[in-house]
Amino acid sequence: MSDILYDFGSGRSDPATFPTERLKKIAVEVIDREAEALTNYPGSLGHKGLRTAMAAREATREGVQVDPEHLVLTNGSMQGVTLTAEALQDQPGDTLILEEYSYPGTLGAYRSLRYDMVGIPLDEGGMRMDVLEHELTRLNREKRLPKFIYAISTYQNPTGFVMPRERRLEMITLADRYGIPIIEDNCYADVHYEGEIQPAIYALDDRPEHIYLCSLSKILAPGFRLGYILARPPMLNTILARRHDAGPNYLASAIAAEFYKEGIAEHAETTNPPLKRKRDLTCEGLKAHAADLCAWSTPPGGLFVWVRLPDDVDRNKLYANAQAKGVNYLRGSSFHYKGVDAPYLRLAFGHLTETQIIEGIPVLVKAIRECRTSNEAVTYTSLFED
Ligand SMILES: Cc1ncc(COP(=O)(O)O)c(C=O)c1O
Repeated sequence: MSDILYDFGSGRSDPATFPTERLKKIAVEVIDREAEALTNYPGSLGHKGLRTAMAAREATREGVQVDPEHLVLTNGSMQGVTLTAEALQDQPGDTLILEEYSYPGTLGAYRSLRYDMVGIPLDEGGMRMDVLEHELTRLNREKRLPKFIYAISTYQNPTGFVMPRERRLEMITLADRYGIPIIEDNCYADVHYEGEIQPAIYALDDRPEHIYLCSLSKILAPGFRLGYILARPPMLNTILARRHDAGPNYLASAIAAEFYKEGIAEHAETTNPPLKRKRDLTCEGLKAHAADLCAWSTPPGGLFVWVRLPDDVDRNKLYANAQAKGVNYLRGSSFHYKGVDAPYLRLAFGHLTETQIIEGIPVLVKAIRECRTSNEAVTYTSLFED
């Protein structure tokens, strides 16, 4: 295997905008200022200053009041994914619902807990509500209603799509009909490029069943390992009862709290434009080199472009061929809830340089052409339809 020159694999933001100097200065200040607190355990909710800053982040974006006492800081949003799934499970084999293609970390956690996953197909507006309704009716009849619905409704991973407000309301209505909590994973929330920002589910429905997850990984850096759960009592207490780690990293929280004490907007204004430019370069590269071959998403936010491959591409051969040419990506099967080898791949564009994107896309497209088993013209024009 050759060295990877074009790593479209992992969903990270732009390393060039990481605010090293400011964070260095803040780190020294907060260690001085918060030395005493650092000698103690942080407690289940975590650093008050960061909870206040993140409550303000949510309130500003969503236009609703957020109580910092309902916000639980976690070790990345991934701990939120695991903790909430544990809290809502009665026994292995319990059912849950999620998008047919979803984040591999979440799929791994749910598989480890031995949940029985029911995947709902996607279209350009996210999870399809006609299928959700059908599946809920079926599961209700079979007396195995899901413990929850997990949805990445904004800048979905891997597709990049955003669920429109009306569809969110439909999902809430369906979930409420059967008393099922929605776990909304909004970890790309502020990685926004254009268009109207759709309201989070918790901002549309204040019933305490629903749970919201967010992160600092995609706006600041995954190395901070900071995320949070937003949940109202009594759901909040059900989740906290499962937490046994004495709380999240206090030093990382204190640094992030100081960094974001005036809000997140100023930082997002420096991090998002380079990412948008990389999104554009990725899509332009596909348009220039693969217009006759692939369909792809143009996400209005987030870090991924979802690419449909012709059915006749030998996908095992493609992965090996791309790696040999120095291109890494994640295969469609990584995102499928049952691991089905579907004709898709995901391109993460955030951490590559512009030059790597410009050079890497044609190399990938060449590999795709080499791995087709026929010369038939491609007939589909969209990501999901025939
Ligand atoms: C949808 C989704 N949820 C959660 C995570 C985990 O992020 P964190 O670093 O906050 O644990 C990711 C990371 O890619 C993700 O895409």
